[in-house]
Amino acid sequence: MSEASAGGRLPKAKNIVWHQASVNRQALSQLRGHGSAILWFTGLSGSGKSTLANAVNVALFKRGFATYVLDGDNVRHGLCSDLGFSDSDREENIRRIGEVAKLFLDAGVIVLTAFVSPFRADREKARSLVEKRDFVEIYCSADLNICEKRDTKGLYLKARAGEIKEFTGISSPYEVPDNPQLVIDTGKEHLDDCVDTVIAKLIELNVIPG
Ligand code: ADX
Repeated sequence: MSEASAGGRLPKAKNIVWHQASVNRQALSQLRGHGSAILWFTGLSGSGKSTLANAVNVALFKRGFATYVLDGDNVRHGLCSDLGFSDSDREENIRRIGEVAKLFLDAGVIVLTAFVSPFRADREKARSLVEKRDFVEIYCSADLNICEKRDTKGLYLKARAGEIKEFTGISSPYEVPDNPQLVIDTGKEHLDDCVDTVIAKLIELNVIPG
């Protein structure tokens, strides 16, 4: 377990009572004219999670909806800058993101998370923090061959050369989702079509109006 993970160096807070907010999710939804949800993009590095999440974000923004993108590479510069890529650090990374995403959900925001999130159990834990209908797991299914060929950040080359340890798909596993709400072939499909698929799902789930 990482130093920073729960049960580590921080003392557990006592005498904490939940404060019920007066401005709740329902009120926010009525005001803004749309619901909130967690869109959880998962897939290999280079599979197009961030690209798709950001493109969906733009489409939602253009319709005036409240949204936010939590992106692995960005969050690891701040909130999770103390974490590496061991199994336990990834677990802690996803635990924190699950909690943050839940806060955004409560704030009436459509939150898009783009993390490799390679372990099924960690994704399930994030899902279990909220109502089932609020968590939309989207598997970006571009396979290793394609991601490695793209190698947008040059990381696969380094991982193959042994310069990066525990690299997902090479020396660390990726567990394909069992039952995601959406599978999007980000290796073959055009970005605009991928965006349309996600938007259609949000309409089907009544998160946004059609
Ligand atoms: S996760 O496994 O904990 O969900 P996260 O999405 O935050 O990972 O970060 C993945 C990003 O970090 C990748 O897109 C890649 O750019 C970079 N990275 C650096 N080292 C690794 C590694 N060992 N395995 C996977 N990604 C890595």
